Amino acid sequence: MSSKTLGFIGTGVLASSIIHGICGAPKLSGTRIVVSPRNAGRASELASMYRNVTVASSNQEVLDASDWVAISVVPAVAESVVRELLFRPDHTVISVLATKRLDIVNSWMSPVARLFRMVPMPFIARGIGPITLYPADDEIEKFFGNLGRVIVMDEEPQVELTNAITSVTNATYTVIETVANWGEKNGLPRDKALDYTISYFEAMLSQISDGRSSDLARFVEERTPGGLNDTVMRLITSRGGFDLWAEGLDAAIKKSRADYL
Ligand SMILES: NC(=O)c1ccc[n+]([C@@H]2O[C@H](COP(=O)([O-])OP(=O)(O)OC[C@H]3O[C@@H](n4cnc5c(N)ncnc54)[C@H](OP(=O)(O)O)[C@@H]3O)[C@@H](O)[C@H]2O)c1
Repeated sequence: MSSKTLGFIGTGVLASSIIHGICGAPKLSGTRIVVSPRNAGRASELASMYRNVTVASSNQEVLDASDWVAISVVPAVAESVVRELLFRPDHTVISVLATKRLDIVNSWMSPVARLFRMVPMPFIARGIGPITLYPADDEIEKFFGNLGRVIVMDEEPQVELTNAITSVTNATYTVIETVANWGEKNGLPRDKALDYTISYFEAMLSQISDGRSSDLARFVEERTPGGLNDTVMRLITSRGGFDLWAEGLDAAIKKSRADYL
């Protein structure tokens, strides 16, 4: 059971998702959480939902009450918010700022024991999904391992690449919707088209999601020449459909790098 106090500077969408995840994880039930007062509605809602969440009266009060501090404001205001704060040398600080390198964040702060960069996604509320961490740390991996799959990066630029990968979210949902819509258009009732398609995608992901990444190439290649799957693969490949996904990711990383200050 964890007995640390985790503070959040910024109580927005992502901070709330992390807090829901922590409060729903039995092994983290001893964690105390302190949130900043800004976004009062969300902060007080979290405090009323969970006994272990309290709302501080200022950002500095969050720091003073916490062992670990998550910086979870939007990148545009982060520097001015962080520069006003006095960190303790024993603080562990986790930046979830999507577009700020650690050396930049570090330059805003008084010295702290440990500084990490993390990219959780809102799925964390349900205890699922990848959580990018840089650099490695056993204690942080163990704690957040209760909230998803912690994937440690060897070098900070790798964090940007995982960030870019998250940009396929809407396109992927659209693929699923396109398949279900096709089923409906051709005669399946809407609910059955959705139910079948979502369950099929779920099963496909489950087949490759146990860390057996070497199996992916086999699943990609395994099909009967001239069969139904082969027909679809040939058509989409010949029209550059898969290349477009890589192009989309190229555009996303370019944009993400341009957003760095
Ligand atoms: N959302 C995601 O899926 C996601 C994924 C990965 C990383 N991130 C990163 O997570 C961070 C937070 O994103 P988000 O989506 O949670 O944004 P958000 O919902 O806009 O939350 C940011 C919060 O910070 C608060 N805030 C603004 N100024 C503040 C101050 N001076 N002191 C304390 N709090 C202040 C805002 O309050 P008000 O509402 O009152 O303005 C808001 O509640 C960003 O850096 C983003 O790059 C987000």
